[in-house]
Amino acid sequence: MKKLIMAAVAMGCMTLAEAQDLKEIQLPEPDKTRGTAVMKALSDRVSVRECSPEELSLRDLSDVIWAANGINRPEEGRRTAPSALNKQDIDVYVFTDEGVFLYLPQRHALQPVAEGDHREVLAGPPSPARTQDFVKAFPVILLFVSDLSRFEMTGERVKLMAAMDAGIVSQNVNLFCSSVGLCTVPRASMDEPAVRRLLNLADHQIPLLNNPVGYPKQ
Ligand SMILES: Cc1cc2nc3c(=O)[nH]c(=O)nc-3n(C[C@H](O)[C@H](O)[C@H](O)COP(=O)(O)O)c2cc1C
Repeated sequence: MKKLIMAAVAMGCMTLAEAQDLKEIQLPEPDKTRGTAVMKALSDRVSVRECSPEELSLRDLSDVIWAANGINRPEEGRRTAPSALNKQDIDVYVFTDEGVFLYLPQRHALQPVAEGDHREVLAGPPSPARTQDFVKAFPVILLFVSDLSRFEMTGERVKLMAAMDAGIVSQNVNLFCSSVGLCTVPRASMDEPAVRRLLNLADHQIPLLNNPVGYPKQ
C-alpha cells in the first residue's frame, strides 16, 4: 500500500501529508485499452488462491476497480456492471494492509473508512478449522456490499437481485484479472458480523462477495 500511496504522490494525485493521514486516494484514469480479447479472458479464467506478496500497483488497482463497477457512461452515470432496475446497489470496499476504503465511482477515488490491516475479517469466522486464511496474503481484497435500500422495495426477490448484482461485479473482476494476468477468486466467505462492525453497516447493507487480487506467485 505504501507503494500505492507513493505512486499516487508521484502522479500528483495526493500530497504526502494526506497519504500519512490515510486520506482519500485519487485513482488514475483507467486504461481502457489493455487486456486480451474476451474469448481469451474466458478461456484463461480460473480461481487462484495463492499469489505473490508484491503490492498491487496504483495502475492495476485503478483498472480492476473500474472494471468491477466503475462509470463507463459518464453522461448517464451508468456502470461497467449492469444492475437490477439500474439501482446500482453494489458498493465496493477496498481492503489493503494500510486500511479499508470505499470506492467513489463518480470521483474514481478511494475514501478511507478504517485505518489498519483488516483483511482478517474476510478470512471467515475465527475457527481452528478455517481454510480461508490464504486471502490475507493477497495485497488487495475487493468486497461487494449491496445497499438494499436503493431498491425502494423489500422481499426475497430484492435479496436475490442484490446477490445477482454482486455476482456480476465479481465476474467483471474475474474476467479483468484473467485478461491482464492477475490472480483472483470469487469468495462468499467472510466473518460477516466482524465486517458489519468494522464498516458500520446498516441492516439494509449486505456484504455478499469478495475478490482478493494479486500477482501470480513466481
Ligand atoms: C458465489 C461463489 C462463492 C464462492 N466462495 C468461495 C469461498 O468462499 N472461498 C473459496 O476459496 N472459493 C470460493 N468460490 C470459488 C469456487 O470454489 C470456484 O469458482 C469453483 O471451485 C470452480 O473453480 P474455478 O473458479 O477455477 O472454475 C466461490 C465461487 C462463487 C461463484
